[in-house]
Amino acid sequence: MDDRKRKVFVKSYGCQMNVYDATRMTDVLAGEGYEETTAMESADLIVLNTCHIREHASEKVFSELGKIRLLKQERVASGLDTKIAVAGCVAQAEGAEILRRQSAVDLVVGPQNYHRLPELLRRTDNGASVIDTEFPLEDKFDHLAHPTADKIRARGLNAFVTVQEGCDKFCTFCVVPYTRGAEVSRPVRQIVEEVERLAASGVREVSLLGQNVNAYHGEGPDGAVWSLARLATRIAQIPGVARIRYTTSHPNDMTDDLLQAHRDLPQFMPFLHLPVQSGSDRILAQMNRKHSVADYLRQIERIRAARPDMALSSDFIVGFPGETDAEFEDTLRLIEEVKFASAYFFKYSARPGTPASTMGDHVPEEVKVERLARLKALVDGQRDAFNAAMLGQTVDVLFEKPGRRPGQIGGKTPWLHAVHVDGPKELIGQIASARIIEVGVNSLYGRLNDSHTEASH
Ligand code: 5AD
Ligand code: SF4
Repeated sequence: MDDRKRKVFVKSYGCQMNVYDATRMTDVLAGEGYEETTAMESADLIVLNTCHIREHASEKVFSELGKIRLLKQERVASGLDTKIAVAGCVAQAEGAEILRRQSAVDLVVGPQNYHRLPELLRRTDNGASVIDTEFPLEDKFDHLAHPTADKIRARGLNAFVTVQEGCDKFCTFCVVPYTRGAEVSRPVRQIVEEVERLAASGVREVSLLGQNVNAYHGEGPDGAVWSLARLATRIAQIPGVARIRYTTSHPNDMTDDLLQAHRDLPQFMPFLHLPVQSGSDRILAQMNRKHSVADYLRQIERIRAARPDMALSSDFIVGFPGETDAEFEDTLRLIEEVKFASAYFFKYSARPGTPASTMGDHVPEEVKVERLARLKALVDGQRDAFNAAMLGQTVDVLFEKPGRRPGQIGGKTPWLHAVHVDGPKELIGQIASARIIEVGVNSLYGRLNDSHTEASH
């Protein structure tokens, strides 16, 4: 058994932070001799990196585990040792319940304990089931292994970096403050070292992640508390870093210095995900969002004053307990006023343990479905108009990969449009300017400008 490389298969659900966590888990497991596989059947270790935001999240995990249990049985019958680990936010929320309901699971590990994976797995070697959903005192990031340069290159030009985790806002519908814990910011030094390592191996764009990323308040190298703006300004100095994004932001944390950085920092991309959730003041209060519609609109005004070309996206929940037709119409009105480049829509569903879950769930499913479709149609139209406005414009494109057709390369605009051009693959990894000559449903088509030299940003 030990003379062959062991294989790990990680299936990630949900947000970008889970995608990032999956890379950190595989990096730490590489030190234990595990290499990644994309085939679950050939894995000695199967990790479900779960998300609790999804509707019926826990039930879906249990049903997936039922299938994986059969796979484990087959493999074990053929003499192949197989372990199942449940990670992510469902692991944190359900804990021992997972082991009780599905005995084939070997390990339940919460998001704050991934650095302990080697030790936890060893404890399962004698057939014991192990659970670790503590919020540890030590900082997991101080103990997580780093990816090799080859791995960084294989992962591409864009990298996620968690800079802040957890949330203290306690929106009444949301499980995040319970699953990811209290708001914690990583120290600046740790983040800068991580980005330096990524950039040295070819990463050109970093997305700074946090459940409340614009509330970032990490310890700076000078001992002072640094804001997200200050952190981004420092990251922008790292050679190779051409673009910086961040997500997800809360409307109440759009500080003056962040807006100033959007004015001053060419690497800061003009695309902001700023969830508002609802356009009704009564619903916002019920959600404990701590801002009104007018507050949100004021923020949008400030943001556009700082960066007139800022594109905006948002999350919306339809059918929050008690949401009336008129309150839903208020959300449509807000969307009409702001004009979004994109948005995510969710039908409200109660999450056990959250305050809203005791408010009942009054809005019938068919009403939620209809409201969701109306919001989506409205924002789809806004997105199409936003894309159509690109026609004839000259934009900087960060080229990321070969295009769909031979001779083409593909990349992204600062506003996250996918762009294809006819061009040399030597441009991959670089920013070049292109004129948009065609607007498709999912991507733009452009023509490279004569000089292919790296443009500003
Ligand atoms: N029901 C529906 N949507 C939810 N979200 C979070 N919790 C719930 C819930 N209980 C949505 C919010 C959040 C996004 C990530 O998921 O819109 O911004
Ligand atoms: Fe959840 Fe609200 Fe915190 Fe966002 S701000 S993670 S929705 S509690």
